Amino acid sequence: MSIRVKEFGKTADGRTVSIYRITNANGAYVDVLDYGCTLHSICVPDKDGNLVDVCLGYDTVAEYEANDGYLGAFIGRHANRIGKGKFTLNGIEYTLAVNNGPNHLHGGKKGYDSVVWATSVASDRLLFSYTSPDGEEGYPGNLSLSVIYSFDDDNALTLCYDAICDSDTVVNFTNHCYFNLNGAGSGTATDLLLQVHADAFTENDADCLPTGNIIPVEGTPFDFRTPKTIGRDIEADDQNLKNGSGYDHNFVLRGEGMRDVCVLSSEKTGIVCTTATTQPGIQIYTANFLTERKGKGGATYHSRDAICLETQHFPDAVHHDNFPSAILKKDEEYHQETRYTFTVTK
Ligand code: GAL
Repeated sequence: MSIRVKEFGKTADGRTVSIYRITNANGAYVDVLDYGCTLHSICVPDKDGNLVDVCLGYDTVAEYEANDGYLGAFIGRHANRIGKGKFTLNGIEYTLAVNNGPNHLHGGKKGYDSVVWATSVASDRLLFSYTSPDGEEGYPGNLSLSVIYSFDDDNALTLCYDAICDSDTVVNFTNHCYFNLNGAGSGTATDLLLQVHADAFTENDADCLPTGNIIPVEGTPFDFRTPKTIGRDIEADDQNLKNGSGYDHNFVLRGEGMRDVCVLSSEKTGIVCTTATTQPGIQIYTANFLTERKGKGGATYHSRDAICLETQHFPDAVHHDNFPSAILKKDEEYHQETRYTFTVTK
C-alpha cells in the first residue's frame, strides 16, 4: 500500500484541502479528502480487470461546499436525525442546530463533513483527527476524535472511528458514501442486487424520523434477507417507502461485533461490495433526494443513481429507550469499525 498527497483546492474561507490516494499492490485505489474525511473515489477492478470508480463525488471543493447530500463524508457528532433538535441528558436539555425541517440532521449546520481534518500518513493507513469543542452545534463536551482509513491488497477499505469526551454526550458516526457498482455517473443504481442481514427496520414518520416502532421486514418491501434488486419493490404502495420517497430507513442488523451485514452487487461489472461492521444498524438510503447535479468528470447525477450503506446507531436513539443507546459517558472510549470489501463474480 502506498499513499501520496496533492492539493485538491481551497474552501471559500481559504482553507487548503488535500487529496490522498491510497493505492494497493494491485493498483486499485481510494482517493480521500481531508475535507470531511470524504471518500472521493474508490477505483476497484471489474470482472475483466478494468478499474471502475464506484463512489460518487465532485471535482472541486466549491461543489462539495455548495451541494447538499454529504457525498462520501464522515458524519458526526450524530448521524441522521434527532427529533426537534433537542434531547435531555443528566437532567439538562440541550438544543441543537435544526437543519432538516423541524429536526437536526447529520451533525447540524456545520457538521464534521465540512471540517478540514488534521491528517497524518502512516505506511499502511491515513489518520484524521479533530477535537469538537463543547457546545459545537449544541452538543455537550469536548470530543476528541480519530478517523482511520486503510485499503488493503484484498480491496478491503476499513474505516475506524475512535472518540473520547470530557463529559457525557451523544455520538453516532457514519460515512455517507454514495455507491454505484455499475460505475459512478453511469445512471441508475436501482438494478443493483442487495442483500441485508436484517429481520426488522425502524419505522419512519413523514420527516424520516423514527416513530420508535421496530417492524419485521417479512412481507414488506424491506425484506432484503435474500438478494433482490433495489428497484424491485421501491415503488410499492407502502407508507414507509412513501415517507422516504424510496428506501431511507435504518435496518436492525443481526448479531453483534464485527460481522458481515450486507452485500451489494452489479451484474454489469461483476463488482460485489460486502459490508462488515461493529455497528447495530445501517441506513439504506437510495439517494432519493440526490437532485440532478454535475458530478466528477462531467457526469450528471440524478436521484437513485447510487445507494448509501450508512452503518450507524439507530437515528434519534436519544428519544427511544428500545433502541441501543447512543450516549457516550465521560472518559469512555468509543470505537466503531466498518469495512467495505470489493470482490468480483465472473
Ligand atoms: C441520509 C438521510 C436522508 C438524507 C440524506 C442526505 O442519511 O437518511 O434522509 O437526509 O442522508 O441527503
